[in-house]
Amino acid sequence: MADYQYDVLVIGAGPGGYVAAIRAAQLGLKTACAEGRETLGGTCLNVGCIPSKALLHGSELFEEVAHGTAAKFGVKTTGVEIDLSVLQGEKAAAVKDLTGGIEFLFKKNKIDWLKGYAQFKDAHTVEVAGTTYTAKHIVIATGSSVMPLPNVEVDNDAGIIVDSTGALALDRIPEHLVVIGGGVIGLELGSVWRRLGAKVTVVEFLDQLFPGMDGDVRKEAAKIFKKQGFELKLSTKVTGAQVEGKTVTLDIEAAAGGNAEQLKADAVLVAIGRRANTSGLGLENIGLELNARGQIETDHDFRTKVDGVWAIGDVIPGPMLAHKAEDEGIAVAENIAGLTGIVNHDVIPGVVYTTPEFAGVGLTEEAAKAAGHTVKVGKFPMLANSRAKTNREPDGFVKVIADATTDRVLGVWIIASVAGTMIAQAAQAMEFGATSEDIAYTCHAHPTHSEAIKEAAMAVQGKPIHI
Ligand code: FAD
Ligand code: NAI
Repeated sequence: MADYQYDVLVIGAGPGGYVAAIRAAQLGLKTACAEGRETLGGTCLNVGCIPSKALLHGSELFEEVAHGTAAKFGVKTTGVEIDLSVLQGEKAAAVKDLTGGIEFLFKKNKIDWLKGYAQFKDAHTVEVAGTTYTAKHIVIATGSSVMPLPNVEVDNDAGIIVDSTGALALDRIPEHLVVIGGGVIGLELGSVWRRLGAKVTVVEFLDQLFPGMDGDVRKEAAKIFKKQGFELKLSTKVTGAQVEGKTVTLDIEAAAGGNAEQLKADAVLVAIGRRANTSGLGLENIGLELNARGQIETDHDFRTKVDGVWAIGDVIPGPMLAHKAEDEGIAVAENIAGLTGIVNHDVIPGVVYTTPEFAGVGLTEEAAKAAGHTVKVGKFPMLANSRAKTNREPDGFVKVIADATTDRVLGVWIIASVAGTMIAQAAQAMEFGATSEDIAYTCHAHPTHSEAIKEAAMAVQGKPIHI
């Protein structure tokens, strides 16, 4: 048998790759991880989840105190200001702490960090920064990058037409920010800059925000964001952009064509999705082909069609989420080690970290019906939840979708200030195959937002208490 330098070599140190490397090392496998970036942690820690949440937190504090509910509770303030450079500094510090933390974990677990971009030479050999390394198993965890929009050229250095990375690093508060794409990034980063003082217009191709979410949630999202001052241009597309000095003129028209008009802005964020990172990997050297969406296909165990080569995270099909990548990282390492690593792709929660938060797990009502289920739906408004009412957080609801015959919970959708925390309970219940009755008869602490989940589950049987 060939003598390899490593048992496992992971390409990419995002949440998929670094977690796979750590679990492989924990299982006693000699492990290396190639990463081309200066720091570990991938998109998530460097230019994704973590910096965006730092800006969301800081801007939320500012809005609460400057214009929000703080005054209602007697918090008196005068002359509240935002110091953008301090906020950006705090974001950078969080990123440094967390990426440094992964470096520490690599050292602790004796994982070799191969610095540079890896390219396959054959199925067991990669080249990184001019050196070749061999491994019995190679895991592709190269993640994803921003999807470009034809005729709208991003220049993050100029800071006028930017992608998510540029929008996380603006050194000024735009007067008018136009966001192209009413998805997760558009509304999260749009919220940051709106809270800090920008007028924000969202141009979305489809007739609602948040594609993939439950229909009721999408409708409510539009109402909530409009109430917050967002201008929404739904069913609209951008056909071109001209930058003159510090002003951008966008050509927009109805998605179906016609009604052409122009929008002027001093910043534009392009956030129309992300695509798998596969170029430069040398996949042609191992005969690994991509699917029609440019992703790497795997089987249930995360094996690709090439023996010894595995793939996980944003580079394979499924939601592009850090926790999905992490769970796949654990599973792939366990499968390589001969254990049984499984990810239940039917129960992957998703959260949009705006105010309120939007969260969901499992099927939407539309998807459940399309899959042939007769459904029973229970809904409970946050306005009737004692804690949300007391905190003056009236927006949102919990929606529990159950199979009408078996009562098994098929999906849970939540709009609430802490929906991202609440959804974990729903995911766990679904993982254990819960019925709506199981949730309805589980004791929930009072007063908590989570009681709304219990009430929505009771509403599936038509018997909530507080409405
Ligand atoms: P990545 O994190 O993209 O990591 C891949 C790594 O591989 C990169 O560091 C890259 O440099 C490296 N690489 C690529 N090619 C090579 C090569 N040939 N050799 C060596 N290294 C290579 N998800 C959430 O769940 N929650 C959030 O709140 C959230 N917020 C986000 C906010 C923003 C602005 C963005 C852009 C994304 C956000 N995401 C969020 C999505 C999340 O970041 C991704 O789903 C996650 O990072 C995917 O992990 P991954 O390991 O598959 O890939
Ligand atoms: P997205 O897929 O969430 O939203 C893109 C939006 O752009 C969609 O609504 C789509 O209809 C629209 N669109 C596409 N082409 C368009 C066009 N030409 N003109 C106008 N609108 C157009 O993608 P987004 O926001 O870029 O995020 C990328 C990925 O990053 C997502 O898959 C998401 O999972 C992940 N992410 C996750 C976060 C979280 O979990 N909180 C936060 C940020 C990103």
